[in-house]
Amino acid sequence: MFKNTQDNQQLNVDNIPAHVAIIMDGNGRWAQKRHLPRIAGHKRGMETVKTITKVASDIGVKVLTLYAFSTENWKRPHDEVSYLMGLPVKFFNDFVPDLIKNNVQVRVMGLIDQLPAQTQKAVNDAVKDTADCTGMVLNFALNYGSRLDMTMAVQKIGRQVKAGILDPNKITDQTIDDNLMTSFLGQLADPDLLIRTSGEERISNFLLWQIAYSELVFTDVLWPDFDKSVFEQMILEYQHRDRRFGGIKTSK
Ligand code: FPP
Repeated sequence: MFKNTQDNQQLNVDNIPAHVAIIMDGNGRWAQKRHLPRIAGHKRGMETVKTITKVASDIGVKVLTLYAFSTENWKRPHDEVSYLMGLPVKFFNDFVPDLIKNNVQVRVMGLIDQLPAQTQKAVNDAVKDTADCTGMVLNFALNYGSRLDMTMAVQKIGRQVKAGILDPNKITDQTIDDNLMTSFLGQLADPDLLIRTSGEERISNFLLWQIAYSELVFTDVLWPDFDKSVFEQMILEYQHRDRRFGGIKTSK
């Protein structure tokens, strides 16, 4: 079945990527271009998060994972880090009622207990307040790094081996999946589509294990300018890809 996009193109509603992950880049450059402080870009970027959450949920995305703060982002100036830590508080204060209305469940992955107390509270409250929502999962990667995630998974697996409850010869892909921060997503842990905005074409320590067969789509659009129309373009691009998962094309 097809539906018209905002730009009058045909979106196949039977081929919507179940899990979309986004590296939201370009907030700083958006602000710089307007002679505004970098935090103005982050503020605007937060509004984009609201828009894209709604659009993704409406078109039938099941999991939307957003890279909001990486384990490397602590290197930024103190004022910027502090502003970024305040954003979830503002975002959830404003937006949880809409999330509930749209049946969106909030989840977070990353080292949450290292965040300032008020950020932790905002995040934990949002997770609790939306726990009964059964629609799209809005998964924030916050103080997240994929190498850290994999290192911690190896440590957990190592402890199970040491305790004698896991035979090293029985370790499979599934064992690794089960010990990563995305394990709660089950079959939906691996993104079908990974988007990065702002013209940069790198992965920046995001979901390295999980994107083994993801379709990667890049756009020059800066995150604060990303909107429904650009998002639909990215989904259309995904729908033109031929996903083979290492196999060969099968005729339909
Ligand atoms: C990258 O742009 C963006 C970030 C490091 C922060 C992303 C955060 C948001 C979009 C807001 C998140 C909202 C919530 C609700 C938590 P950049 O600063 O690296 O941009 P630049 O490359 O142009 O400098």
